[in-house]
Amino acid sequence: MGNWDLNNKRALVTGGTKGIGKATVIELAELGAQVLFTGRDEKTVELVEQELRALGHQVFGLKADVTSTDHRHKVKDWIDSRWKSLDILVNNAGINIRKPTLDYLESEYRQLLEVNLIAPFELSRLLHQYLKGTTVGVVINVASVAGIMDARTGAPYGISKSGLIHLGRSLANEWATDNIRVNTVSPWFTRTPATESVLTNQEKLEKIISRTPLGRVANDKEIASVIAFLAMDKASFVNGQNIVVDGGASAAIL
Ligand SMILES: NC(=O)c1ccc[n+]([C@@H]2O[C@H](COP(=O)([O-])OP(=O)(O)OC[C@H]3O[C@@H](n4cnc5c(N)ncnc54)[C@H](OP(=O)(O)O)[C@@H]3O)[C@@H](O)[C@H]2O)c1
Repeated sequence: MGNWDLNNKRALVTGGTKGIGKATVIELAELGAQVLFTGRDEKTVELVEQELRALGHQVFGLKADVTSTDHRHKVKDWIDSRWKSLDILVNNAGINIRKPTLDYLESEYRQLLEVNLIAPFELSRLLHQYLKGTTVGVVINVASVAGIMDARTGAPYGISKSGLIHLGRSLANEWATDNIRVNTVSPWFTRTPATESVLTNQEKLEKIISRTPLGRVANDKEIASVIAFLAMDKASFVNGQNIVVDGGASAAIL
């Protein structure tokens, strides 16, 4: 059954330099894991690595864009040369471009789908051999409430997150015999750099809060703690689920 910790675990978190990803890197490291994280900006990756190492965490930053095949292979090579196995993969990196459907350029929605859906699909496949090589491998995809209902955050984002939730179900079913558990965490509005422009708009914030039974938005640590639980052997029989972390928003109609 394991303990309430992640001692001796090795984890990869994509998009670990900010927001939910960074909070997840910290949470996993505080629970005892070694954590490799990625981001697109080299300087930011270095600074976050320094900051977290100064706190005593065993973290490793790697500049990698999850949409690049070469960069995904760079991540694989890092794991191959340093660890040879991987216990936990958190597909967290995600973007949104909020606009009406008719206004999207083809390049914009294709990029969004590349980051939010294609990259988790490809990275999960690429790292399957390392996840299979451990006692129990864990994949956690970070989707969104926008993947289960329309949250007026744009059709491409909703499509990408809906697809990601289904990817979790399919892989959970397909890879269970490889001792790999696959689950999804779907946050509602969470205070991060990505949502700053929405949440500093008082009118939008009030609307979001009025639709959230707990009467507030989440902070990044409240999502990271759910990801950490799913990563633990304590969650050993949780597989193929989408855990919605939304203060009750999706359970309420008024
Ligand atoms: N915040 C919310 O309200 C909310 C709600 C539901 C779901 N989510 C989901 O939660 C996840 C994290 O969101 P967040 O709000 O924490 O976002 P954020 O504050 O914008 O952070 C995103 C992280 O991903 C990295 N990133 C973006 N594109 C990347 C790429 N192509 N390759 C590698 N790294 C990349 C960013 O670093 P660089 O830009 O430097 O690369 C950053 O570290 C996303 O999947 C998002 O869709 C968020």
